[in-house]
Amino acid sequence: MTLPLCIYGSPVLRKKSEPVEEITPELVELARNMLDTMYNANGVGLAAPQVGKNIRLVVIDLSKEDEERNPIMLFNPVVEPEEGENPVALEEEGCLSIPEIWVKISRPSRVRITYTNENSETVELRGVTGKFARCALHEQDHLNGILFVDKMSMSDKAMNASKLKRMAKK
Ligand code: CO
Repeated sequence: MTLPLCIYGSPVLRKKSEPVEEITPELVELARNMLDTMYNANGVGLAAPQVGKNIRLVVIDLSKEDEERNPIMLFNPVVEPEEGENPVALEEEGCLSIPEIWVKISRPSRVRITYTNENSETVELRGVTGKFARCALHEQDHLNGILFVDKMSMSDKAMNASKLKRMAKK
């Protein structure tokens, strides 16, 4: 089942989300619905605040069109830059809550991801790079009320200011 997406300007996108205390069947169902919503909108990641829930839950699926789906449900995810050599990567990002804006954002290129899965198991992924690292950092920001447009360069901010203003008014 798809859920309505909250768009830029919704207060729920700016709140810090609460930790998940227990992985209930209802929460797994919510995560499934979030995946449906994400696939329907051709996204690769979605955080619970984007469907109006301020809880620390993220879904990600980075499989390509011609591949089998590979959905991941991350409860209480913690995404941290790995120590050691970790150059910043500058790549284009978009967000299902901020349609029509695609800009380059700097992020650490190598991260460690810790989360609880739908079976209440703790999972730790080390040395995560590329799209997965970027997506996990982007979604973690959502859980803290941070949006990728907050991290745009000054010139991108200026260029997209009126678009954002219009979006927030709706
Ligand atoms: Co987003």
